[in-house]
Amino acid sequence: MRSKFIAGNWKMNKTVADAVALATALKSGFSAKPGVAAAVCPPFTALDAVGKVLKGSAIALGAQNMHASKDGAFTGEVAASMLLELGCSYVILGHSERRTLFGETDKSVNEKTQAALAAGLTPIVCVGETLEQRKSEQTSRVITEQVFGSLAELGGSLDKIVIAYEPVWAIGTGLTASPAQAQEVHALIRKLLVRLGGEAAAQKVLIQYGGSMKPDNARELLSQPDIDGGLIGGAALKADSFLAIINAA
Ligand code: PGA
Repeated sequence: MRSKFIAGNWKMNKTVADAVALATALKSGFSAKPGVAAAVCPPFTALDAVGKVLKGSAIALGAQNMHASKDGAFTGEVAASMLLELGCSYVILGHSERRTLFGETDKSVNEKTQAALAAGLTPIVCVGETLEQRKSEQTSRVITEQVFGSLAELGGSLDKIVIAYEPVWAIGTGLTASPAQAQEVHALIRKLLVRLGGEAAAQKVLIQYGGSMKPDNARELLSQPDIDGGLIGGAALKADSFLAIINAA
């Protein structure tokens, strides 16, 4: 059976001081349970400090983005080796905010995914349809394109990734996909993974749901057969609600 994995995406929130306070509260409130993993993804500026707080706890550290190159003239960018140095084990890639606001494409997400895997980071690769795409029944097509595009040519590493299905219309809106709506897309993603890397690899990949997951809807979403965790935005910014989602898992 796959374990559950709850990750907090803090986005562009928390100064170092605020991040340390939240990480400290999470560390003291977190009790590790078999079959449930947890991670937090603070902004770059707080990774070092949060990593130091979480050292020795079972809560892992992740970043929200990285560049595909090892190093070089890429002003404003951060490489995988720099994230590893700060204790990151995860990196979120291709979040819909990066795709829509910062021009990321399936091709660039694929390059980053390959680079993350090569460096030894676990990528959390995000996919999801917009409201217009859902209304015009384009969800399957869009998800298929994003999965095949973002996860091309991973070879034997396909089973080392995490996928986050995040319907864009549910992110930060308070609207959540119903458990059945989410499960339908998660099952589709699992089928696409079979085509990409075979049944055994597909069964290993953790597929998180993201989009207004909260303590009061987490249990039902997480009880769906192909929903293996959550990528949490708003509800990850407070220790109580994030810990409650972990407990639901
Ligand atoms: P939300 O964000 O939980 O605030 O909807 C999720 C995400 O964007 O990862």
